[in-house]
Order: sequence, then C-alpha cells, then structure tokens
Amino acid sequence: HTYVIIMAGGVGTRFWPFSRTSYPKQFHDVLGTGRTLLQQTADRFDGVCPPENIFIVTSSLYKDLCQQQLPQLTDDQVLCEPIARNTAPCIAYACYKIAQRDPEANVVVAPADHIILKEEEFKRTIRTALEATKDQDILVTLGIQPSRPDTGYGYIQYIPDEKDGIKKVKTFTEKPHLELAQQFLESGEFVWNAGIFVWNAQAIIKAFEAYLPEVAEIFEEGKDAYYTDQEEPFIDKAYSLCRSISIDNGIMEKAHNVYVVLSDFGWSDLGTWKSLYEVSSKNDDQNVVDGHVMLYDTRNCIIKTPKDRLVAINGLDGFIVAEYDNVLMICRKEDEQKVKAFVADAKEQG
Ligand code: GDD
Ligand code: MG
Repeated sequence: HTYVIIMAGGVGTRFWPFSRTSYPKQFHDVLGTGRTLLQQTADRFDGVCPPENIFIVTSSLYKDLCQQQLPQLTDDQVLCEPIARNTAPCIAYACYKIAQRDPEANVVVAPADHIILKEEEFKRTIRTALEATKDQDILVTLGIQPSRPDTGYGYIQYIPDEKDGIKKVKTFTEKPHLELAQQFLESGEFVWNAGIFVWNAQAIIKAFEAYLPEVAEIFEEGKDAYYTDQEEPFIDKAYSLCRSISIDNGIMEKAHNVYVVLSDFGWSDLGTWKSLYEVSSKNDDQNVVDGHVMLYDTRNCIIKTPKDRLVAINGLDGFIVAEYDNVLMICRKEDEQKVKAFVADAKEQG
C-alpha cells in the first residue's frame, strides 16, 4: 500500500535565469550528474514502492517533459494541474485520487527539486516514517538540523525525549521573519521542515476536512471522475474553484497530530543560487564553475554559462554569473533576494 507523490509544478523563480517558466529547475541536470532533479527524485524511491505507485503532480505545461524524463510512467501517473495553486491542492488531488482506488494507501509526498546525498540513510528514514503512519492517524514530516536563520523554510519545534526516531511536534512555523528565525535557531529546539511528508491517505483526508474543508469538498466531489475521461474536465473546474495555499500554511501549522523524524541524509533544497554554491565543489579560488570560462583575479563566484560560449571574467568577487536561453544575469551573491524582482521586470520587458 505504499505510494509516492512527487510535486513538480513549481517554477523556481529564485533560480532565474536558469529556472524558467518554460523549463523549471526540476527538469535540469543542475549538478551535472547526468540525471535531472526530477529523475534523481524518482530514482531515490527505487525499492520503496512499486514503480506503478509513483505519481507526479505537475502543470499540464510540463506533462511532456515529465514523460520524456521518466518514460516508465504511464499517462495515469502524471497528474496535470491546469493552474498552479500551491502545494495543498496538489496534495489533495493526488491523495483523493489514490485513496479512491486504495483506501489503505500509505503515502510519501516529496518535492522534485531537492538534493539528497545519503540515499541509504534517506530510505531508512522514509521506512521509519512509513512504519509509523501505516496504522496511525498522524502527519509525519522530516526534520533537518538547521545551520542558518533561513526564512525560506518551515521551523518545527518538537518535544524532546530519550528515544530515537519520531518526535511529537509542538509548533510548526512556516517561513518566519528573520528575527524569529534567529530566535528559533539560537534556542536549539527547532529543526527545518524538509518539505517531505508521510501519512496514510485517511489521515491526510481527515486533516483536509478539518483545516481546509473547502479544498476537501472540491476534491471529494471527484470520486466518480478519477480514472475516467471525466477527470480532466473535473480537475479544470476544481482548480478554478480552489484557492492557492501551501500544505504548510494550510495544514501543518494547524494540525495537532504532527510528528517529525529527525533526519540527516545530506539534504539541500536547491532553492537559490547560494544553496547551489554551497553544495557544489569549488576551485582553489572558491569559485563554482560550470561553463567554458577564463578567470582572472576572480573569487567566491558561481558561474554557470552555456558550454558553447567562451566567457572571460576579471576582478569579480562574490558574484553570480548565470546565462541560460538568451538571458544573462550578473548579480552580487549577497543580493540574490533581488532575483525575484528581476524576473518580474523581465516579464514586462517581454
Ligand atoms: N504540482 C505542483 N503544483 N507543485 C508545486 C506547486 C503547485 O502549485 N507549487 C510548488 N510545487 C512544488 C515545487 O516544485 C517544489 O517541488 C515543492 O512543491 C515545494 O514547493 P516550494 O515552492 O519549493 O516550497 P518552499 O521551498 O518555499 O517551502 C517548502 O519546502 C521547504 C523545504 O525546502 C515548505 O514545505 C517549507 O516548510 C520547507 O522548509
Ligand atoms: Mg522549495
């Protein structure tokens, strides 16, 4: 009864110009390993569940990309969203659909754009979580030891105990402001939410009914449509009615039956240029280089340019130099929060 839902509908704005609406980061081979982030995510669940129990939820724009990259998937395994409504509707759609056929489904929900270095440890953690959710009405998330007051993550405070493994969650705070994130970090009582969730279908359905009843109602109505030719028109209507909300804000912050498995599997959310810089190997001058470049007096930079373009750089320290598909961005690493504004302005430029 084990299933995996891979969420692959994000646009990855903070990774512009590499991540674009037409080709978001999960479809790139970001680390140069020969497998894209989506492929690596699917590979990671080898042996955790049968291949036919893996579902991808994505925008209908990316259906072909998903099937090209994961040719083993049947049509039924790629769930298409007509518009992006953030992660709560994405999870509701997949969980209601899976539960329709298998009410005893036990589900892992994973983002398509994370790096996990220690695969065996990851599998062990996932199995611990699946074991716990198989017959308990609980919502499990994976917790990562935080290393900086990053405001892009959810922060989980848990009740410490002597036992290893799974801990009851006291508070869940999604994307706190900086001061709060600093307090959380200093207290030592918090872990980051990895954004990877485990629960049985009935537990998450109950949580939707309790905390996002309007979303529950919308997807519950699809009962007769799932797995039929009515599914697509039903989903078009459902998404037009559904508001945009994340699972973290909509459910995880509110539910009282949340548990966390403290995890250490070399996790990184490749959300930003800085995070890619951190996980990549660096040359003697602390540059991360991917491209055909000549560097002079250049340090602490991340440079990612097309292989067919020769780039010469002199005298840069701490910059992002990134070119992809006719867009070139040069930006101080420290200022990377401005990337979102560049994207908005670039849209206006057409
Ligand atoms: N199908 C679909 N539809 N997928 C989506 C949508 C959508 O509308 N929106 C986002 N996703 C996918 C993204 O592609 C990503 O794989 C995943 O869902 C999570 O969305 P993000 O937008 O990347 O969330 P986040 O990184 O800001 O925050 C989440 O992850 C953090 C850890 O990386 C939260 O769960 C935080 O609490 C957590 O710390
Ligand atoms: Mg993310």
